[in-house]
Amino acid sequence: MALRLGDTAPDFTAETTEGTINFHEWLGTSWGILFSHPKDFTPVCTTELGKVAKLKGEFDKREVKVIGLSVDSLESHQKWVPDINETQGTAVNFPLIADPERKTAILYDMLDPQSENNLTARSVYIIGPDKKIKLMIVYPASTGRNFEEVLRAIDSVQLTANFSVATPADWKDGGECIIVPSVSDEDAQKKFPKGFNRVKPYLRTTPQPNR
Ligand code: BEZ
Repeated sequence: MALRLGDTAPDFTAETTEGTINFHEWLGTSWGILFSHPKDFTPVCTTELGKVAKLKGEFDKREVKVIGLSVDSLESHQKWVPDINETQGTAVNFPLIADPERKTAILYDMLDPQSENNLTARSVYIIGPDKKIKLMIVYPASTGRNFEEVLRAIDSVQLTANFSVATPADWKDGGECIIVPSVSDEDAQKKFPKGFNRVKPYLRTTPQPNR
């Protein structure tokens, strides 16, 4: 059955460019991003992995561990990484899972049904320290992802986890947040010392709590 938001991220053990990893053990108490790309030695994937490597500082700041996956072999990953480093001006600084038997791809429903060769789509799973799936994104092979948007999404789910706020359309870090409906007005007064604006009983905004 397909994974759903709130499900426990399935555990697995896999070969990666940084050795054998047991996923839950490797995550420890961190947040995690598991993301797939369709194929090694392809142009869009090369740019994506370079971009993720360059954003390592941003992921670290948010206590997020990042791990990539494709259905290529470990040997293929190891041959491709120097190309990414060379062409993208970076050093790949996160593990890449080798999944030639598609075990993990199937576990996470990452295979692209449109792909002739049973390749992975561009899936992203954001996983909380409780190992629950907080957010999922799937892009087709032809569309490179916007990893600034992935960071924005992490910021949003972390705000919800830590402060009981949601984020409105097009929210950016530092913008007004929305108090989740499960918090009463009375509790909101205690929880949000910066105050809140009751536009409608169901629409209450408050300054971003951690800014
Ligand atoms: C790419 O990364 O460029 C790519 C991979 C598979 C299909 C299409 C594009």
